[in-house]
Amino acid sequence: MKIINNIQELKLQLQQENKTIGLVPTMGSLHEGHISLIKKARKENEVVVVSIFVNPTQFLANEDLDKYPRKDESDKKICALCEVDYLFMPNINTMYSQDEVLIKAPKINSFILEGEKRPGHFDGVLQIVLKLFNIVNPTNAYFGKKDAQQLSLVMQMVENFYMDVTIVPCEIVRESDGLALSSRNVYLSHDEKAEALKVSQSLNLASKLVVNLELNCSTIIENMKTALSSEKIEIEYVSIVNRKFQTIETIELKNSIILVAVKIGTTRLIDNIWI
Ligand code: PAF
Repeated sequence: MKIINNIQELKLQLQQENKTIGLVPTMGSLHEGHISLIKKARKENEVVVVSIFVNPTQFLANEDLDKYPRKDESDKKICALCEVDYLFMPNINTMYSQDEVLIKAPKINSFILEGEKRPGHFDGVLQIVLKLFNIVNPTNAYFGKKDAQQLSLVMQMVENFYMDVTIVPCEIVRESDGLALSSRNVYLSHDEKAEALKVSQSLNLASKLVVNLELNCSTIIENMKTALSSEKIEIEYVSIVNRKFQTIETIELKNSIILVAVKIGTTRLIDNIWI
């Protein structure tokens, strides 16, 4: 595995390879969720590139940029074990210059749900993803379904800008107790982690309701909110949308996503299921 932090060097190496390339963009602190993306990329491409860059432009001023978990040394080991070919670890001055051309995420879909709570977040995500795509020129790029809105906006960017990359959505990986894996789970205390299980439990409840043909979204949301209710959980949203992220009133099978965002203590958690 080659560790590269220079854009021209990576571009040159990849151009010389002239092979199919799978890109897994990450902010590091790799866990089983990332590993599943890397393994899928390894199976489906001749060359695998993982990028690790904690992207400042997608953090709001009051967010956890400074204390975002960083584990460079163990990340390098994980990537080597997963047979990654190139690990791209640029620094901020490599990726950004002053007064740049800026990408704006589409107004409607980027100011609801995650975007309502984190205005400007998706502008930063699309800015860095576009840069990474232009550097790596991947055949396939791998994104987790856990960040469903991010996935949908990246797909929209690819469509709107006629980009030649296939976006591959990857399943959410969970701990055995159901908690969706996230780099931010390390912030949870023991007690908070027990509370956090209510998030996936509320989604399981929703999926059981659907199996029992309860397709009314308001009813499902009410039941989920009851399942989530706890002094320690601040519900940010429980929402049901179609795959275009439009709010729906009735579950559309194979076209619905049920999403939850909560705050437990100072930790923000998101999770979802695709129905
Ligand atoms: O999902 C993430 O880890 C980040 O948003 C991404 C896609 C690597 C862009 O910084």
